[in-house]
Amino acid sequence: MGTLQAVKGMNDVLGEETPRWQRLEARFRERTALYGYEEVRTPIVEPTALFLRSIGETTDIVEKEMYTFADKGDATLTLRPEGTASAVRAYLEHTVYAKQPVTKWTYTGAMFRRERPAKGRYRQFHQAGAEVYGDPGPYVDAEMIDMIVAFLADIGIRDIEVLVNSLGGPETRPAYTTALVAYLSPLRASLCGDCQRRIDTNPLRVLDCKVEHDRAVAAQAPSVVEFLTPADKEHFDNLQRTLDALGTPYRVEPRLVRGLDYYTRTLFEVKGRGGGLGAQDTVCGGGRYDGLVEQLGGQSTPAIGFAMGIERLLMMMEQPVAQPNIDVFIIAASPAELVEATKIARDLRQGGVRTDADLRGQSMKSQMRRADKSGARLALVVGSDEVTRSVVQLKDLIEKTQTEVPRADLLPRVRATLALVEAK
Ligand code: HAM
Repeated sequence: MGTLQAVKGMNDVLGEETPRWQRLEARFRERTALYGYEEVRTPIVEPTALFLRSIGETTDIVEKEMYTFADKGDATLTLRPEGTASAVRAYLEHTVYAKQPVTKWTYTGAMFRRERPAKGRYRQFHQAGAEVYGDPGPYVDAEMIDMIVAFLADIGIRDIEVLVNSLGGPETRPAYTTALVAYLSPLRASLCGDCQRRIDTNPLRVLDCKVEHDRAVAAQAPSVVEFLTPADKEHFDNLQRTLDALGTPYRVEPRLVRGLDYYTRTLFEVKGRGGGLGAQDTVCGGGRYDGLVEQLGGQSTPAIGFAMGIERLLMMMEQPVAQPNIDVFIIAASPAELVEATKIARDLRQGGVRTDADLRGQSMKSQMRRADKSGARLALVVGSDEVTRSVVQLKDLIEKTQTEVPRADLLPRVRATLALVEAK
């Protein structure tokens, strides 16, 4: 029998990669906390109907990409392909709207889409996202875009392009859709099979087609911005005015559309340059979805949010200098000192010192090799003589020095040495 492997398009994170994930997630938490966001954690599995009713039945995600299965009973469940639908469900289920006028949530976690795996495109991927309920914008829209740009700078990503657009509200959309269909219909035969279908099911999606000829057709299509009602236009103008005032760089892209049906008004994407992202260069997508809460059974509630692909961000994030994850490695001269070694390790850890030890009773030579490889600055050698005299040998693995230290002085000595190293 062959060895088992992870599911295609789903990846393990291990070794040197893990600290990079942790660093990114920590920066995201810190940045969003500065703006008053709280974390929400929702289940990975939801009733399939939730996604059908929110993302849209004629989107690629719902038509082709969802992992849907029958539960043991007769419920149909789906691994979440994104986080917004779940957030709205939780917002309604817990009547959060009755407790807070404005709700600001963040989340990070795994999402699942059965796409064709490629560099930067996976079947299990991870998003860091945020949603705001109860604020119609446009100032909070600008604040959110500015927060994303600041977060990207926090993790060293500055080579980006922010694209913004407005899809307008319920009045703009039908007029624009009619104009778009009128423009596309005579060109139908020249479009790809998917787009021929989209003209009837979801014409806005034609603007997002990746086929070269269709892209040329899309580039000449009427622009939604010309169809905005005065109120929608004012909203979009004020978004831009606020971004200008904040000094947030952006470009208006009138043909920007996105792959989920729930968007209204403000729409944005952040493209990353560099990092070898190639075609999967959208590191962040988001927008306003003022109709979704009502569509899912709640009161009419304005909402906006975004999500960033963590794998894509990591491809662009600067490589940090590798940091050792322990400071002290303990070496027992013989198995007779293993009890003492275990105790010293515990005492150091209680004192906040990151400590490791090889407790398998290996030779001194093999333990020394592990100490060197561990990246620890200090090694402690404990032999029978040391146990009798209540001392340890403290080795500085960089300076190549050795000193005898009484057990009672050990913790302060280790701490002082490490603090000196850190201060350098
Ligand atoms: P989305 O554009 O579908 O939006 O996904 C957001 C981001 O997730 C993308 O820009 C990309 O970085 C990442 N992503 C998507 N699919 C994959 C994949 N297969 N592999 C790797 N990364 C991927 C949403 O999901 C919306 N829920 C965003 C939102 C929140 N809108 C309002 N609130």
